[in-house]
Amino acid sequence: MAKVVLAYSGGLDTSVAIRWIKEQYNLDVITVTIDIGNARDLSAIAARAEKIGSVKALVVDGRDDFVRYFVWPALQAGAIYEGEYPLATALARPLIARLLVDIAHAEGAIAVAHGCTGKGNDQVRFDVAINTLAPEIKIIAPVREWSMTRDNEIAYATEHHIPIQVTNASPYSVDQNLWGRSIECGILEDPWAEPPEEVYDWTANPDLSKLSSEPPPEPTYIEITFKEGIPIALNGEDIDGVTLIETLNKLAGGYGIGRIDHIENRLVGIKSREVYEAPAAVVLHDAHRALEGLTLSRDQARFKQVIATEYAHLIYNGQWYSALHQDLAAYVYSTQRFVSGVVRMKLSYGHCIVVGRKSEYSLYNHSLATYDSGDQFDHNAALGFIKLWGLPLTTQAQAQLLPEISLNGNLLKGPVN
Ligand code: ARG
Repeated sequence: MAKVVLAYSGGLDTSVAIRWIKEQYNLDVITVTIDIGNARDLSAIAARAEKIGSVKALVVDGRDDFVRYFVWPALQAGAIYEGEYPLATALARPLIARLLVDIAHAEGAIAVAHGCTGKGNDQVRFDVAINTLAPEIKIIAPVREWSMTRDNEIAYATEHHIPIQVTNASPYSVDQNLWGRSIECGILEDPWAEPPEEVYDWTANPDLSKLSSEPPPEPTYIEITFKEGIPIALNGEDIDGVTLIETLNKLAGGYGIGRIDHIENRLVGIKSREVYEAPAAVVLHDAHRALEGLTLSRDQARFKQVIATEYAHLIYNGQWYSALHQDLAAYVYSTQRFVSGVVRMKLSYGHCIVVGRKSEYSLYNHSLATYDSGDQFDHNAALGFIKLWGLPLTTQAQAQLLPEISLNGNLLKGPVN
């Protein structure tokens, strides 16, 4: 029988999908459950897949690859979607697509399958990545194809003796990996409603008045060492990427750092309310940005913001495997050559701030910056500089604008007057 490789999370949708694909498409289902730091009992999930009827249940540890090839490049790029979302879910999709395709090739499967709905970004990211990497492979998306409600699915599962756990079903849809936790649905669909405390799992309530421990925890200082834009040590000790992210998620999460409440523009044209928990991502982006502040020139830093925005969009929009990405990645790589050094951060309840940074490639020059003795900045040179810098403005003001420059600098007879 021909085979399909299904990305299997162990949840209701993909559990029902094992049986449904077999029935509808007459294919042998191989499941693959990928660990990208989403903390589940993977061998129990694989055992369940076999019980439901998969011919083979694979488990893949994708954590190192996720951090090395997806998270770190996004961190170096400064990729944050719409200024808020560090892109945890979006970054995992091209990795999962790559693994599905590789396994399909290795197993001689004709198709791959995923559990995305027809309304979100994830289906686009999966399908575009899979079609790009392996145009000959067919894509099956059961949840997009079947028209079952949740109750229908439960009935289907009962009828086909599919073991599922739907007791105290949560109203929220949650996706999580090392880089963050994404929560949607339920009351969150009301953009005016404050997210109830129950949606959070990784972060303590940053509201001091709700704190159970008395007195509140003291602030903590941490030092993160970067080499060419990649964090390599915590408090002076070398640390691998996965452990660093796990450690920071726990530590900063314990301070209530990393909660994000975002009205987001989805690729498919709708606005949606998304809540994220991303303690490590928030801390590391802040730290990385601070080190760039010391090591990139003004012009590099300004232009890199343009690239960061584009980079975030291409990740969000499912264009990871594109020539544009290769081009931007080459640029980002070049910018990171001197982004090496140490950033000191203070974590206190509800927020983190950068309090120190140093680098052997620092562009900060104390004798140029100081107002104390030892000042080597040429104050006289400033006069000539100001004259030439302002020359176009003073020229134009005299020739055209002088009678019209009002108190706030706008035209006298503007629409505000
Ligand atoms: N809005 C985010 C994104 O498109 C997160 C999606 C999360 N998915 C979920 N099932 N909760 O990347």
